[in-house]
Amino acid sequence: MRAVAVANYSAQPTIMELPDPRAGHGEVLVGIRAAGVNPIDLSIANGEWAARGADARFPLIMGIDMAGVVEAAGEHVTRFAPGDAVFGQLFLPPLGSTGTYAEQVAVPEEANLARVPPGMDLETAAALPTAGGTALNIADGLGPLPGETVLVVGAAGGVGSFLTQLLAASGARVLTVARADAADRLRAYGAAENFDRAAVSVPDAVGAACPDGIGVLVDLASEAPAFAELATLVRVGGTALSTRYAADVDDLAEYGISGINFRVNMTPDLLARLADAVVTGQVAGPPIRTVRLDDVPSLLGRPSVGAAGDKIVVLPGG
Ligand SMILES: NC(=O)c1ccc[n+]([C@@H]2O[C@H](COP(=O)([O-])OP(=O)(O)OC[C@H]3O[C@@H](n4cnc5c(N)ncnc54)[C@H](OP(=O)(O)O)[C@@H]3O)[C@@H](O)[C@H]2O)c1
Repeated sequence: MRAVAVANYSAQPTIMELPDPRAGHGEVLVGIRAAGVNPIDLSIANGEWAARGADARFPLIMGIDMAGVVEAAGEHVTRFAPGDAVFGQLFLPPLGSTGTYAEQVAVPEEANLARVPPGMDLETAAALPTAGGTALNIADGLGPLPGETVLVVGAAGGVGSFLTQLLAASGARVLTVARADAADRLRAYGAAENFDRAAVSVPDAVGAACPDGIGVLVDLASEAPAFAELATLVRVGGTALSTRYAADVDDLAEYGISGINFRVNMTPDLLARLADAVVTGQVAGPPIRTVRLDDVPSLLGRPSVGAAGDKIVVLPGG
């Protein structure tokens, strides 16, 4: 089969012809129709997760999100049958062994897979797992926030586009930090106000808009120094969460703030709830920009979400 893979951690991603996978005991073989692109894909291929102790297999096939159709089921598979449309996040050890920028993948049926609901196309399903699942997991953890002011930094991206909607629906007053050309889209998602970091000093502007401070900071973009500065906006008793492991939890605790270095807890149930929210219209899925497998190497490193909120989805058969 064809796949985008790296031969080692310092190699460039390229198209490779690799052996077709087979469904082993307890595994399903999925014909991948669409694979969502996320920032983590490049960081896995770069070796950032090796530095965190994760094992890998080379050639390392890139990508963790996908949607497709079950083509075969190994012995003792009970959850799925050939013909089922499924989607999921395949972030399994060793890294690269279940990559999704590929025509097929074989995975244990208890992996983070769920059925694509009727009415949802496979491109949309492939765009959901990592970005939408992370946003739903964060919103679940924060709980209902009626009237609370929440600042979402990096709101125009994959996670932020879902999170802005979920937090606004939970009753929060959502302030966003994103480029100006995303402001109208974020307002349509329920944001009260957007701050363009290219035009203003965000700590100063948010501080002026919220003289009593904010209740929650959710930062999807900043490195540690910028995160620490933004966290000074949070009131005592509030929460400052980073998806980039930028929070100094002990330091924040001294100021009476709960610091969180968030790591998503993906489950099949979370995926199913997310798909249900999108297919019933409670949450808008992103507009999709499809690319061919051959186009992927030249696209990597660019934002996974364009100015219009369009999420890049790879069509391995395209
Ligand atoms: N810990 C976890 O479990 C977990 C799970 C999912 C994602 N993540 C991480 O969370 C981050 C966001 O993921 P994503 O899928 O939403 O990424 P994404 O689609 O690439 O979006 C990131 C957004 O952040 C903006 N941005 C970049 N630098 C910024 C800065 N200094 N200040 C404000 N905004 C900035 C980008 O805008 P521009 O285009 O204008 O630069 C873009 O809109 C990534 O680092 C990802 O790896 C972590």
